[in-house]
Amino acid sequence: MDEKHLFLLSGFDVELSFGEVKAVLSLLHPNHRIIKREGRVLIVETLSNVAEEVVERTAYTKLSARLLFETMTDERDILSSVDASLIRDLIPPNSTIVVRGLTINGASVRKTNLERNIGSLIIDNLPSLKVNLRKPDYTIVFISSPEKTYIGILGKTKPRRCFYYRVAGRRPFILPSAMQPDLSRCLVNLSRTKIGGRILDPFAGTGGIMIEAALLGYEVYGIELKKWIAMGALRNLRYYIPSLENIVVGDARKLMFRKCFNSIVTDPPYGRSTTIPDYSLINLLEIFFSESQECLEDDGTVTLVTPQEINVEDIASDMGYTLQESYKVRIHRSLIRKIMVFR
Ligand SMILES: C[S@@+](CC[C@H](N)C(=O)[O-])C[C@H]1O[C@@H](n2cnc3c(N)ncnc32)[C@H](O)[C@@H]1O
Repeated sequence: MDEKHLFLLSGFDVELSFGEVKAVLSLLHPNHRIIKREGRVLIVETLSNVAEEVVERTAYTKLSARLLFETMTDERDILSSVDASLIRDLIPPNSTIVVRGLTINGASVRKTNLERNIGSLIIDNLPSLKVNLRKPDYTIVFISSPEKTYIGILGKTKPRRCFYYRVAGRRPFILPSAMQPDLSRCLVNLSRTKIGGRILDPFAGTGGIMIEAALLGYEVYGIELKKWIAMGALRNLRYYIPSLENIVVGDARKLMFRKCFNSIVTDPPYGRSTTIPDYSLINLLEIFFSESQECLEDDGTVTLVTPQEINVEDIASDMGYTLQESYKVRIHRSLIRKIMVFR
């Protein structure tokens, strides 16, 4: 396998985006090989269909492209790197093409000029190809950072407003504590739950994690302490996925399931906009981690978000869990959260 694919990671949090892609690749194509990451650009040896599915499943990958050339970000170097024979092998004769450029981190190339010049170069060498600006069969894409430029055949792009209709404030039932769908999806992916596996969210709130997990094809169940919130979550679940109703009113400190989940993906209360009943968050997490072992299958994972000051690592380790990965993510200006995956 020597197909190299490029992924453009979201600028929201590059480490988290990278972690998410690695998790999804490990599920879809365990034999993939990560070649390198340079800033937001990740190069991986994998297959075209896998690369496209990675863009579909992840929250924080902007696009994939079959990598053709890479060079320094200098207009002359870029043009001299374009080798028509490689394009001839990958794009059938008589196809239509367009060249589109993207600059990241303030790269200073004359994008429109380069698009035109790369296009002319390709057509001069491969005259059976035609340019079609509106509906081309193939899009040649170049991505320029201040240092490097990568040129490839565009695979999949993430639609700009793909989370728009599920944004927390647009759901039928809204609470200030609700997590946004992109982060919810990313958590589900980080859990590395086998495709089609079973996931539990024991602090389900408005159901945001459940919705993303179900859209990714998982069998998902939720528990919520407060009946009125669980009823609201049910409205949300049915609104996006009419058959999704697996939420119960219950307590994450007394889980009623035994050895039946591949993973737990959750966002416990943190005392600002959700109240923590009876105990402190630390007590709640201690009891939750001890209970969670009972309901997870062997090798199950727990993926959760907490305030950065809580030492969840020690609580989980006392219960026999091992930290797999962790990220500090700035949710907005004054709010930093810790995301952790335990096995
Ligand atoms: C941070 S919110 C979850 C937000 C959720 N991710 C969403 O998108 O709406 C935490 C939720 O846990 C619930 N909760 C608190 N203690 C609980 C417990 N012991 N068992 C189950 N749910 C609990 C709270 O009522 C709250 O709705």
